[in-house]
Amino acid sequence: MCGIVAYVGHRQAHEVIIKGLKRLEYRGYDSAGIALLNGGLNVYKKKGKVSELEEFVKGKNLNSTIGIGHTRWATHGEPNDVNAHPHYSSTGKLAIIHNGIIENYSSLKQELINKGHTFKSETDTEVFIHFIEDIKEKENCSLDEAVRLALTKVVGAYAIVIMSLEDPDLLVAARKGSPLVVGVGKDEFFLASDATPIIEYTNEVVYLNDQEIAVVNDGKLSIKNTANLPLSPYIQTIDLELEAIEKGGYEHFMLKEIFEQPRSISDCMRGRLDSKSGRLVLGGLREYVNKLVNADRILIVACGTSWHAGLVAEYFFEEFCRIPVEVEYASEFRYRNPVIREGDVLIAISQSGETADTLAAIEMAKSKGAIIFGVCNVVGSSIPRATHAGAYTHAGPEIGVASTKAFTAQLTVLNMIALIVANKKGTITEQKLHEMLTELENIPAKVAEVLKLNDQIKEISETFKDATNFLYLGRGYNFPVALEGALKLKEISYIHAEGYPAAEMKHGPIALIDEEMPVVFIATQDSSYEKIVSNIQEVKARKGRVIAVVTKGDKHIAKMAEFTIEVPAVHEALMPMVSVIPLQLLSYHIAVMRGCNVDQPRNLAKSVTVE
Ligand code: G6P
Repeated sequence: MCGIVAYVGHRQAHEVIIKGLKRLEYRGYDSAGIALLNGGLNVYKKKGKVSELEEFVKGKNLNSTIGIGHTRWATHGEPNDVNAHPHYSSTGKLAIIHNGIIENYSSLKQELINKGHTFKSETDTEVFIHFIEDIKEKENCSLDEAVRLALTKVVGAYAIVIMSLEDPDLLVAARKGSPLVVGVGKDEFFLASDATPIIEYTNEVVYLNDQEIAVVNDGKLSIKNTANLPLSPYIQTIDLELEAIEKGGYEHFMLKEIFEQPRSISDCMRGRLDSKSGRLVLGGLREYVNKLVNADRILIVACGTSWHAGLVAEYFFEEFCRIPVEVEYASEFRYRNPVIREGDVLIAISQSGETADTLAAIEMAKSKGAIIFGVCNVVGSSIPRATHAGAYTHAGPEIGVASTKAFTAQLTVLNMIALIVANKKGTITEQKLHEMLTELENIPAKVAEVLKLNDQIKEISETFKDATNFLYLGRGYNFPVALEGALKLKEISYIHAEGYPAAEMKHGPIALIDEEMPVVFIATQDSSYEKIVSNIQEVKARKGRVIAVVTKGDKHIAKMAEFTIEVPAVHEALMPMVSVIPLQLLSYHIAVMRGCNVDQPRNLAKSVTVE
């Protein structure tokens, strides 16, 4: 969370930074700020979105070819102008932007207060920059050395960039646990939380590793680690198109990303799966694939929507690979001393590849000897670098805070992994494997068919836009879809929604049902169809308002439900990739009708890099 951008070169820094901050707003958007060297080290900051900062600085002299900027998701101190970044050091000669948390900030703060420091904000970041300056003065050393010494004393996660009044060509940056990318242009450098603010200027980047310090000075980049060991920058060429991070005519990123799914699912399978030749290859599994084949148990850790993808994968792996699977919230797993045995394999799922709890769960499992696989979307992010093996989802950048195309891409990759394992293990027949590969190849076309129902779903949304509660029910493979549908609705429309296994309704949620209560059933024709039909009747008997996602041609449920949404038939194990689409659209339209900001819902952030 929090987006950071910095620039030094020959361009107007504020133009690069403000544009970059807008691209990073998915990481947080409660306040924003910028520091420039324009006749002094000047900081401009404002509560609210980057557009408010842009308005605020209009007409000011912003002439500077060096600068740092920040868009915030508050951790310490409420979102206001004072707590916004950048923050000054005690003398005002240094300014910092920071993403992450300094855990021992209160003891550092007390030490500094004892020395006479005063603080304007409530942030850990201001303490951090005072601390760095204090070391610089005490040790009479360079800024990068002071940063290095400070980093050996702070506890926590950070990506920081610092600029100095005394050095108009210097930026010092460092990371531990929060991402930071250096863009290398011709006589110019960019620093940012991810590559999106950089790609329109250069596709040459260096991903900093934990405990590394990057110094851009007089047009040169040097990197060392906190142990003071110089390192040679590893410059990578990234393959990211500008159009992939723009709205392309859609009103919102979320809608664009929902509609991109036929393509993103195909992209995810491209070069990896071909039913005709029987090709099914994921290069990133490498030599570790046999660890999965021989696993006694698979642990899946993830958060949010990725956790829901993990739940679907649990059913899939158990059915096709006959390996027991446990799906864990990363945040719970890491703190409860879990039993990890030899023969256990862990799969971490994460769109951003940066979620702090997932990353910490990986480190913990690794320290206990587990082999870790990653399923991530953002190439070069922290989780893929922390795992032994894995596969990218290749869904392209997902910018809307509510995850959509990442979910279906995660399911695609997880299904492919499971089929590879099942094939190697001999728990699937050749014929069944061929059938599943063909079905997977057909998913993009089926998703495209569901997207044609957009207008119908919009109409249904009109009927329910003022509801205060929603219940989502599904069974089997569609149970995690119910959870995901409820999550999507509450995230962006702020309507309270719960997902439940349909049969569990009797044990509690049924008490909520009255003539006001919309109940969304994911009731496609699968092995639990008859059972879910009974659950629909139970809701009807209590006058609940039924919206049912059904298999095309289902006349039976149509007679019972107030609204039916017909999706094409697919193998039940793959149905979540199809049945989730109407739920994404339903939540999108309801949120838009309620006037909510669907791409930047309140209090949420896309990449949760704090615990
Ligand atoms: C945040 C996002 C969710 C996402 C979750 C896990 O809560 O708002 O959309 O599902 O983090 O993120 P990850 O990047 O690890 O999949």
